[in-house]
Amino acid sequence: MLKKQKIRGIFSSPPYVGQIDYHEQHAYAYDLFGFDRKDKLEIGPLYKGQGKEARNSYVKAISKVLSNARKFMVDDFDVFLVANDKWNLYPQIAKLAGMKIVKQFKRPVLNRTERDKSPYSEIIFHLKNSL
Ligand SMILES: C[S@@+](CC[C@H](N)C(=O)[O-])C[C@H]1O[C@@H](n2cnc3c(N)ncnc32)[C@H](O)[C@@H]1O
Repeated sequence: MLKKQKIRGIFSSPPYVGQIDYHEQHAYAYDLFGFDRKDKLEIGPLYKGQGKEARNSYVKAISKVLSNARKFMVDDFDVFLVANDKWNLYPQIAKLAGMKIVKQFKRPVLNRTERDKSPYSEIIFHLKNSL
């Protein structure tokens, strides 16, 4: 089906660099459904931190995911990614994946689960094919 009918667009929220341990956050789901945990495959895991090495490995991993998705997409695709890109990694990620950022929408997050008062916002990146 993917070969005949290509993907027109993707809207996703990828993991952020060293911010959340998703395996722990979703531990109940692994338990309930009996899924195997794959902690080592998590992208941008908390335990790797936010240092240069962690950021480089994040850039490589996310761009690899996007490059893979690109193979199954129409030429004039639209990709929207929600990210808190405090390290300004997405321009490089887009380039490595053969994409370009055509627009950025700022999204203030007012009611965070953390319930703290510090201002927090995310960007929704609109990416298109650059090849
Ligand atoms: C910011 S959350 C967004 C989750 C979901 N889109 C939502 O809105 O609830 C990022 C998600 O990426 C997942 N993730 C991290 N590394 C991954 C990988 N290698 N393969 C697939 N998913 C991964 C995490 O488990 C987490 O659920």
